[in-house]
Amino acid sequence: MYTHEDLTRLQAQSLKMQGWIRQQTFSPENQKTLRRFSSWEVAELIFRINQSTFRGRLAAEPDLPGGEVEPDGRQRWFSLDEINALRRKMKINRKTLMPPRPAGKRAFRAAIANFKGGAGKSTVALHFAHAAALDGYRVLLVDFDPQATLSHSMGLTDVAEDYTVWGIMARDLIRETDRMNTAVTGAASGTALPRRQIPASIRDLGLGELRHGDFIKPTAWSTIDIVPSCANAAFVEFASAQYRHLNPEWSFFAAVSRYLDGLGDDDYDLVLFDCPPAIGYQSMNAVFAADMLYIPSGPGYWEYDSTTSFIGQLAEALEDLSGFGPTFPAGKVSLPKSFAEIRFLMTRYEPGNDLHRAMFDAFRKVFGPHVAEHPIEMTRAVEQSGRFLSSVYEIDYREMTRETWRRARASFDRAYEEFRGSMLAAWDRI
Ligand SMILES: Nc1ncnc2c1ncn2[C@@H]1O[C@H](COP(=O)(O)OP(=O)(O)OP(=O)(O)O)[C@@H](O)[C@H]1O
Ligand SMILES: [Mg+2]
Repeated sequence: MYTHEDLTRLQAQSLKMQGWIRQQTFSPENQKTLRRFSSWEVAELIFRINQSTFRGRLAAEPDLPGGEVEPDGRQRWFSLDEINALRRKMKINRKTLMPPRPAGKRAFRAAIANFKGGAGKSTVALHFAHAAALDGYRVLLVDFDPQATLSHSMGLTDVAEDYTVWGIMARDLIRETDRMNTAVTGAASGTALPRRQIPASIRDLGLGELRHGDFIKPTAWSTIDIVPSCANAAFVEFASAQYRHLNPEWSFFAAVSRYLDGLGDDDYDLVLFDCPPAIGYQSMNAVFAADMLYIPSGPGYWEYDSTTSFIGQLAEALEDLSGFGPTFPAGKVSLPKSFAEIRFLMTRYEPGNDLHRAMFDAFRKVFGPHVAEHPIEMTRAVEQSGRFLSSVYEIDYREMTRETWRRARASFDRAYEEFRGSMLAAWDRI
């Protein structure tokens, strides 16, 4: 017979091995880096201008960053920072290359959510983040999934669980409880309200003292930061249930939303959430913080089926929240939760497949204008290459069949552009 002690022993053995493997395999080449982009890509795919116009401008204005020329090549290759410098300095026909952003508003928040596993959530989040960064936006990613696919894809492998959504939630519990207790002490009728105790085992973790920026990590993309996740954060679901019990007035679902409210309005343009394949404390925090829900779904019948149950169960969970007690603290959090936009996005779509086309039609019949017009096509370009998952934007087009790359990139580009259109319209509404 085996108990938790045996599991602990097995885990200790495994951790030793993990540490050893990390030591053996760690080298600077295993750090994720971002490639340079060719003048063809910068002109036609990123700035959407004529290549000759671009070359002409570079030749005429020597203080623009000129990129690097490879020994055997004619093309110039630009880093993301150089692309952003060009974007700031250049105007084409007196038009700016800077992406639109409504004045005086905080960053827009979008959650990529569905409880169906493998629907393409992390792939969509990764590609939208990269496409948005190449579009000139500053992006913050929040990985809500302890599988940490997105964190790994962004090159983060050594993440301590304190600095994940779990840390944000535990910190919020401590801070909110302190705030409520102060309010209880201050209120004349305070005796009616109970004071809540947070046990030393939680306070002593020191999470209450973590600063805002401690949770945000830089990535190989200079304009993309991430609140990462890691496998050890998987117990957040379990811990959160306990935390709720400690303080039933704690609005557990609004912890991340409150955390994001503490960011400067102009620190980022877009905050993107990758959700776990479940409805739980983490995904409720993501959904609650989101201005827009983006629901990816594969093209099969079962995926349609589970997307249907997902929205049903989400609706129930959100309805439950809307009854959150009268002691609910005043602030930026308002109930019932409302979204500025809800969209469905079909992924892994094959245009030549009759079943896929039929499912896409069914989605459009049922969800009408909520369905994104451009599904993301099935492609071999997003299969894992090397140690890190890479997006089609990160893969150098010389490393694969140019047609495969172009086609995949075009599909993600169309989906991103549509996402951007929805975002800009919804941004005005918040
Ligand atoms: N457009 C696509 N073409 C080909 N393969 C894809 C595409 N989108 C996703 N995949 C593959 O499908 C698998 C699942 O994708 P992904 O990890 O993005 O799904 P997920 O919804 O985040 O999964 P989970 O629920 O486990 O978090 C991955 O192996 C991914 O490479
Ligand atoms: Mg995922």
